[in-house]
Amino acid sequence: MTKKIFEPFEINGMVLKNRLGFPPLLNMPSNNDCTINDQTIRWFEDRAKGGAGLVMTGAVVAGPEPDFAMLEMLGMTRVGLYDDKFIDGFSRIADAVHVYGAKFGVQLEAVGGVMSGRGPSVSPYPDAEDATDDYFKIIYSFDVPVTEITIEEIEEAKQYFVAAAIRAKKAGADCVELHCAHGGATLNCSFISPYYNKRTDQYGGSWENRLRLSTEIIQEMRRAVGDNYPILVRISSDQLVGEKGITLQDTLKYVVPAMERAGVDCIDVTQGDMIRSTQGILIPMYYPWVGFMDMTAAVKKATRLPVIGVGRIIEIDMANRFLEEGKADLIYMGRQLTSDPDTPKKYLEGRADEIRHCIGCNVACGPCPINYEIHQAHIPLTRAETVKRVLVIGGGVGGMEAARIASLRGHQVALMEKAPALGGMVAALAKTPMTSEFGNIVEYLSIQMEKQNVDVRMNTEATLDEVEKLNPDAVILAAGSTMLIPEEARGKPGVMDHIDALGRMDEIGQKVVIWGLVAADFAISLAREGKDVVMIGRGGVETLAKWYSDSRKLYILKQLTDVRLPRVTPEGERLSNPEILYHITVKDISNNEVRTVNHEGVGRVLPYDTLIISRERKGSDELYESLQRKVSEVYKVGDCAQIAQIQEAIFSANEIARKI
Ligand SMILES: Cc1cc2nc3c(=O)[nH]c(=O)nc-3n(C[C@H](O)[C@H](O)[C@H](O)COP(=O)(O)O)c2cc1C
Repeated sequence: MTKKIFEPFEINGMVLKNRLGFPPLLNMPSNNDCTINDQTIRWFEDRAKGGAGLVMTGAVVAGPEPDFAMLEMLGMTRVGLYDDKFIDGFSRIADAVHVYGAKFGVQLEAVGGVMSGRGPSVSPYPDAEDATDDYFKIIYSFDVPVTEITIEEIEEAKQYFVAAAIRAKKAGADCVELHCAHGGATLNCSFISPYYNKRTDQYGGSWENRLRLSTEIIQEMRRAVGDNYPILVRISSDQLVGEKGITLQDTLKYVVPAMERAGVDCIDVTQGDMIRSTQGILIPMYYPWVGFMDMTAAVKKATRLPVIGVGRIIEIDMANRFLEEGKADLIYMGRQLTSDPDTPKKYLEGRADEIRHCIGCNVACGPCPINYEIHQAHIPLTRAETVKRVLVIGGGVGGMEAARIASLRGHQVALMEKAPALGGMVAALAKTPMTSEFGNIVEYLSIQMEKQNVDVRMNTEATLDEVEKLNPDAVILAAGSTMLIPEEARGKPGVMDHIDALGRMDEIGQKVVIWGLVAADFAISLAREGKDVVMIGRGGVETLAKWYSDSRKLYILKQLTDVRLPRVTPEGERLSNPEILYHITVKDISNNEVRTVNHEGVGRVLPYDTLIISRERKGSDELYESLQRKVSEVYKVGDCAQIAQIQEAIFSANEIARKI
């Protein structure tokens, strides 16, 4: 029996071949002048080819022309539809998507919203002083100055949306989606939200007034595109800032009925605010897979219109279950179709075990750190001209990816791993519940080792003798890295390095000191288990969770600064747990105590049962030189070439394995 997710679905005459769509992702490739290029076409074509029934653009600029200097400063490009000159480009995308029987939609957004400096009214907003909630303050250390938009500008904005919708239709797009979600990120949501909208004219005050901008746009768009053209609307069912913002109850009572009356054909339900609650939008790996689907289900109950559900849905079965349970009519998969655009296709072909599941790292999502193919200037995968015996040393993600690619190209590949399990450091990180999603990439690559017939030799130390026995034509050294233990801590009782500690969780004592500020999610995990955790580091707050993506870091900082996990000392003092100590120099370690002093000269003694070191790593490339004397081609990938993150491991593996 066909699964519900693969059944066709109709929205105002637009017949989708299935109920699975690709949602708006701003990070679609484009040129600096907002025009599209071949990479943009490929971005959408890949999703359609992979089996999605509906492919939506990320927020397209309906108008006015964006501030290019600002875009350059932010290091981003946008796609525009604010002029007829863009129509041809959109037609090219529509044609490319239609080849695969998918429908093409355009999400429209005017340059505006509090986040881009034009709001319904100026700050201060209810908790503007609370820097821990402000994405911009935390990530970019600046406040966006907001100007209040005038009635004339409101009229202008409406016309931008209408003109862009007409252009989208002309270009052959099958539907448009009006972006009214994500709090301060959009003009419409900034107006709807009582958090940002303090106007006293007909666009502020009551719910009716605050919804006026969005509903007038929808009505005017409807008049312009006709009754038989699907208009979708995206809302944040809950802004996730409490009573000060849009709550689910508000949405059910005011927003949904207003959108219905205005004449939309479908409601796409997301959550959150891009400035104050990104966790509702870019749900990080720390959240359970169900995300905020219960909120979507509540909207579905409250409307006769079709409802789209979205948010950390990464498996077809899970998407299907939400449909079966009546929580939504359609499902959008965003980051999953970025880590693997072929997800639906593989599932339908009975190759679900070959799906590369998103790890929820939010590092880029276009390109994706675990999907090299989606990277703009990737080296194509071709058959190797000469079949070689390739030996990969190290079974971490870099090593396995190199082995996978070399094997796909036709080489005979063996992989040696000295440990009894594959995955290296990433597999170790997957051991705590908060970061277990890292396991997705380990699982994918491990299965690929079998599928691609890689000769995997576990528990095998790659000595020169072992290598010589195999007589390889090429060696890819992917031996990872080791964590450096500072002199003061060496040989002291209770000391473990971070990666080692992840494998010895049972041995971690009650009082934990973590030396180094990167492993913030590990610290929170331990605190959640009831341990008393203190993190110490040389740097300031800017070095906390340093390598994390912005949205992951924001979540972590909020967890830490909100003191969500308080610890009460025997004396009754309430401390945050984990407690973070910045600008710390370690003076001495003895008798299970770390003696520290901070930059103001204040000393503190930290008793510990377990001292976890999470600081510098050193590449394990000891074999490199001796291998060069024995084998004609020797390469390094991953940490052993350069200490970095998963993305660099995956990318360096591809760049080598696609060339040998
Ligand atoms: C890189 C990136 C860019 C996004 N840009 C937009 C956007 O332009 N408009 C929008 O409504 N949502 C945007 N979103 C939110 C997604 O549409 C989607 O709701 C979110 O990623 C959650 O779905 P997922 O867990 O399946 O990825 C973006 C998400 C990501 C990761």
